[in-house]
Amino acid sequence: MQKFYKIVTFGCQMNVHESEKLAGVLESMGYRATEDETQADVVVFNTCCVREAAEQKAMGNIGALKPLKKKKKDMIIAVCGCMTQEKKRAEEIYKKFPFVNIILGTHNTYKFKEYLEQVLATKKRVYQVVPEEPCLPVEVESYRTSGYNAWVNIMYGCNNFCTYCIVPYVRGREKSRPMEDIVAECKKLIADGYKEITLLGQNVNSYGNTFNNGKNNFAELLRQIDALDGNFNLKFLTSHPKDLSEEVVKVIAESKHISHMIHLPVQCGSDRILKLMNRNYTVEHYIKTIEMIRKYIPDVNLSTDIIVGFPTETEEDFEMTLDLMKKVQYNTAFCFIYSKRTGTPAEKMDGQVPLATKRERVNRLLALQREIEKNIFNRFLGQTIKVLMTSRKEGKVLGKTDCGINVIIEGVKEFKVDFVTVKIKDIKNTKLIGEIVE
Ligand code: SAH
Ligand code: SF4
Ligand code: F3S
Repeated sequence: MQKFYKIVTFGCQMNVHESEKLAGVLESMGYRATEDETQADVVVFNTCCVREAAEQKAMGNIGALKPLKKKKKDMIIAVCGCMTQEKKRAEEIYKKFPFVNIILGTHNTYKFKEYLEQVLATKKRVYQVVPEEPCLPVEVESYRTSGYNAWVNIMYGCNNFCTYCIVPYVRGREKSRPMEDIVAECKKLIADGYKEITLLGQNVNSYGNTFNNGKNNFAELLRQIDALDGNFNLKFLTSHPKDLSEEVVKVIAESKHISHMIHLPVQCGSDRILKLMNRNYTVEHYIKTIEMIRKYIPDVNLSTDIIVGFPTETEEDFEMTLDLMKKVQYNTAFCFIYSKRTGTPAEKMDGQVPLATKRERVNRLLALQREIEKNIFNRFLGQTIKVLMTSRKEGKVLGKTDCGINVIIEGVKEFKVDFVTVKIKDIKNTKLIGEIVE
């Protein structure tokens, strides 16, 4: 009889891709995907702990499966990812949810098959939260679910230790995959018909810091992938403002395939707070970097992450963030309320900001960003741009610009996932409306 699995993913693209690897394991064992958990024989929660809300949601979702598990005794429930790499959390899940069969951390996800087989054979619970190993994790074949886009890991972990962030503790130290492995994977993906490749790392500009002399390895990696034959867009996440080099920006500007978009999280517009965050750059350095980027890539689309309410943040500090946003004019800004993370230096800092203040600030930030986005959208009017047709729904063809803005494309005779040229003639909410140009 056909067996089914359901994977519930929280957190960043890294986790989304890791879930594709878990799906790869389950598919290779003969399981098929389902959205319906009552049909599932295996349910996996791939968790995130970057903010408290993500953890609470995961805990709530796991708890909610208790009644189903009571009825379906053979159903296997696994919890993995960043949240279970935290020892305290993993132990809490073990005690609080005795119906969870498998608990594993981030450093042994690739052994999921072994653990699942163990549970199937012995019916005993598996609890495997292991400390970091010095080597790279074994690459497991992915079962890709992201349509035209393929995620590709180029490195794991982070060495930056921003004082608010839990990621270095749960993902370990920076480790880069060999360049030839990454290029070979990209080559295969392009041959398989993927139209977009997104390279993943917590700090891609440090890619290959341990190789050779460590210099410019990310620029070289981009160059090599850009040189591959085929019709594809190349993107990458995430750049750190202290490390993004002129060399990388030049490679993007001169490339055939690399999207003119850079995600450059600034986090805050106050030097005092940036220092407390251990970000290792100043607002002046950041603005200079933006100017350098715009010199080489005038049509660049910039995005950022912002944290409001970091300990001791005053109204003046916050206004500096607003000023910086007005100066830079981001296409997209992901705005977060600071969330206290156990074990990080910021947890112990004096001057924690009350929730009401944090909420009020984030709302002001979001309102400003909405205004900025409206202006940026208006600039697309009348432009002729390259758009990737991605789907057709109820007779409407949808697509995405190079930087990920949704476009409704009119006048399409034959739909297939491919690049087309579109003239933008209108804007509706957060979508551009355009007509295909033959
Ligand atoms: N490595 C990436 C992504 C890290 S997590 C980077 O450095 O940009 C994604 C975002 O979550 C961060 O950029 C930050 O804005 C936010 N974040 C991290 N820890 C947080 C915390 N404790 N509270 C609120 N937001 C946080
Ligand atoms: Fe976290 Fe900073 Fe590393 Fe990003 S660079 S993952 S914010 S510690
Ligand atoms: Fe990503 Fe969340 Fe882990 S943001 S790296 S899944 S803590």
